[in-house]
Amino acid sequence: MVEKKLGAWLDGNIIDSDKATVPILTHSMQYGSGIFEGIRAYDTGKGVSIFRLDDHIERFLNSAKIYSMKLNYGFKELREACMNLVKSNGLTYGYIRPFAFYNDARIGVSTEGKAVSVFIAAMPFGDYFGGKHDKGVSCKISSWQRINSSILPVEAKASGNYLNSIIASNEARGVGFDEAILTSSDGYVAEGPGENIFVVKDEKLITPGPGSDILMGITRDSLIKLAKSSGIEVEERAVHKEELLTADEAFFSGTAAEITHIYKVDGAVINDGLAGPVTKKLAQMYGDAARGKNEKFKEWLTFV
Ligand SMILES: Cc1ncc(COP(=O)(O)O)c(C=O)c1O
Repeated sequence: MVEKKLGAWLDGNIIDSDKATVPILTHSMQYGSGIFEGIRAYDTGKGVSIFRLDDHIERFLNSAKIYSMKLNYGFKELREACMNLVKSNGLTYGYIRPFAFYNDARIGVSTEGKAVSVFIAAMPFGDYFGGKHDKGVSCKISSWQRINSSILPVEAKASGNYLNSIIASNEARGVGFDEAILTSSDGYVAEGPGENIFVVKDEKLITPGPGSDILMGITRDSLIKLAKSSGIEVEERAVHKEELLTADEAFFSGTAAEITHIYKVDGAVINDGLAGPVTKKLAQMYGDAARGKNEKFKEWLTFV
């Protein structure tokens, strides 16, 4: 079978993905000044649907706003671009990566007057943890703290923030763990390098809130709403590291990670290494909602 070449959207046109190039001195490559999104599309059995597309586009526009980055495209155009790209790439499921960047090779940190481009990629995409999703992941509490809003805006999904994620992730992987967990500036549990975190204690779902230096994840928000809809009590609050070590269950949430259970944190094994009942229930509810099997949450779907 000949594999279909993927197209990408660049400043209003769909081009061959591998023909998209930028000068090596591009500002966003030198200084990490891009902003981006990660969005999943799912096969609903009645067509492909993009999950919470409008919320992702809104966060994308807010990330640009925080950095005074002037995009040449608004909500409607970006939304349609994502839909058209999924369609023209013939995807039945996958991942969409909108990326806005300073497409300008002039030397100098200031972004004033620098050209901004928007690029969107859309591709098939499965397990973020490379086959470990079902087994779960082991985590190291990082020696690196999560950046906080007095240093960089954590609620902007900006490329530069991911250096903090990368160094924590490298540290954890370097000593044999699958993933890192970063703490906030005041020592509470914050999030993973690219995931939010939840713990379950006495059947209650607990997750760090905006005060804990986290990206306000869209999957996190979906899970809170799904949990509440099924009568699970939810607390958004500061989480001590020891609460994580002694949790009944723990899991990551994220567009890429979806719901991935954490079976070990440092030396502490959680729920005998298995995904617990609340984790499994929420993973099922999330999968059903994303695949259009829950009428109550169908406003989260955008059919392409
Ligand atoms: C640092 C960080 N936290 C949390 C998340 C989860 O956010 P979402 O559920 O919107 O994908 C992500 C992924 O986008 C992330 O990069």
